[in-house]
Amino acid sequence: MLIANIRDQTANMVKRASIDREELFRQVKARLGDRPFIVVSHREPYIHHLSGREITWNRPVGGLTEALDPLLRAAGGIWVAHGSGSADKKVVDVRDRVAVPPDSPEYTLRRVWLTPDEIAGFYLGFSNQALWPLCHIAFTAPVFREADWKTYRKVNRIFADAVLKESAGRRAVVLVQDYHFAMLPGILRKDAPDMTIGQFWHIPWPPYEVFRTCPWHEEIIAGMLGNDLLGFHIGDFCRNFVESAGHLPGAATDRRGVSIARDGRKTFVQPFPISVDFAGISGQSRRPEVRQEMERLSRRYRLDGKIVGIGLDRIDYTKGIPERLLALDKFLEDNPGYRGKVVFIQAGMPSRTDIGTYRDLARRVRRLIKDVNEKYTTGDWQPVISLTGQLSRETLGALRNLADFCVVSSLHDGMNLVAKEYVAARNDGDGVLVLSRFTGAAEELADAILINPFATNDFAARLKEALTMPETERRRRMKNMRRVVAGNDIFHWGAGIVSRLLEMAGA
Ligand code: G6P
Repeated sequence: MLIANIRDQTANMVKRASIDREELFRQVKARLGDRPFIVVSHREPYIHHLSGREITWNRPVGGLTEALDPLLRAAGGIWVAHGSGSADKKVVDVRDRVAVPPDSPEYTLRRVWLTPDEIAGFYLGFSNQALWPLCHIAFTAPVFREADWKTYRKVNRIFADAVLKESAGRRAVVLVQDYHFAMLPGILRKDAPDMTIGQFWHIPWPPYEVFRTCPWHEEIIAGMLGNDLLGFHIGDFCRNFVESAGHLPGAATDRRGVSIARDGRKTFVQPFPISVDFAGISGQSRRPEVRQEMERLSRRYRLDGKIVGIGLDRIDYTKGIPERLLALDKFLEDNPGYRGKVVFIQAGMPSRTDIGTYRDLARRVRRLIKDVNEKYTTGDWQPVISLTGQLSRETLGALRNLADFCVVSSLHDGMNLVAKEYVAARNDGDGVLVLSRFTGAAEELADAILINPFATNDFAARLKEALTMPETERRRRMKNMRRVVAGNDIFHWGAGIVSRLLEMAGA
């Protein structure tokens, strides 16, 4: 019953996806009327930097910004986020606000300032050393420090105060992003009972057996029940959350398992699989800058005539990068005929480097790449090319189009947008996606070659399957996957959540 219901909701969303993006945003704006629309996230959509004496700005690359920025630009509103740029303070007004996009302002960015101690306890501590490993089943133990938990609650309060100030007593519609703010909805609900509050949790929600190991699991769930609407990527995470919430004293889940009642009110739980800007990424592949970058990379890394594979990730222990390199090693060991023919480009973006486990992982990845290269390199061929640092949009576009196969081998992943970006980029209709079964994306992209990253021998065999797949089969699968991603793009994800929230606000 529950499973059928969640599937129906997802199917309806995909159906709605045929409506045009401008029309969707127009409807959202009209329905909002004079209600303030407030988005809250830890990362900000625009960052100002000091370079010498000059102030520059950029937009961080990432799904969240890509999805919500166009919606706020069309519907207006306020985005509350942590001001982390070196010039962020220099450009705000007395109320810590700056109009964005900086070159043609359409909405307000309200920056929240955090001290180094607050960042350490809230972001590096509780968010990324407790909740992140707790929610991902990647066998990295969470660290539960009382002091981090206190700071996490304090920072949630700081953000709540900013939201309350911005809403100024009006019946706002608030959309909270991610695991940094589990306590924020509960605080808002208490101080502004009339607010319509939704939250999207961008990472998995684990089974109750796992979640209850957190000493403050009840407070966290109670905080999240301050929401009217709680979104996860897939039905499994919704079910896990509903099950966890069902154990909370005073909470009752409904028979269909889509809502939880507590304190005389209800929180609805629903899947909203996040996506990418399909048309934008697909169109980018045709641009001359991307074509030129493909030629440059091809020359620079001698890719001509080679079978090219890519892995593009933040260097995070949930992404299964060592597992991928071990499988590649096994593949080359078992298939000597492919030595000299396959080049795998591993592009890793450094992430959360102030945390020891992330630094250890980066070291382990470097060592594994060195080992594989030492084992197999001959003449001017080397099996793995490692690219580190932030890559430009052109380079990312070029890599996706150069790659005969793309490997996403997460140990656990809420959705994984790298997989969808690869599919969106391939408007030539070719390319093979090798995708971990343990990603949310695997639910939609059934035409990928699905792998278990922990099963090295089988993973290596699946790499061979990717490399030997006949062209007609590659194209058939890619066509199906492109249809799926085009049918539920990032704009429909954003508009879908906000529409549901507006329904709850009675708008
Ligand atoms: C994940 C999280 C996002 C986060 C991103 C990058 O996708 O769900 O909330 O912004 O990782 O991590 P960072 O710690 O650099 O913000």
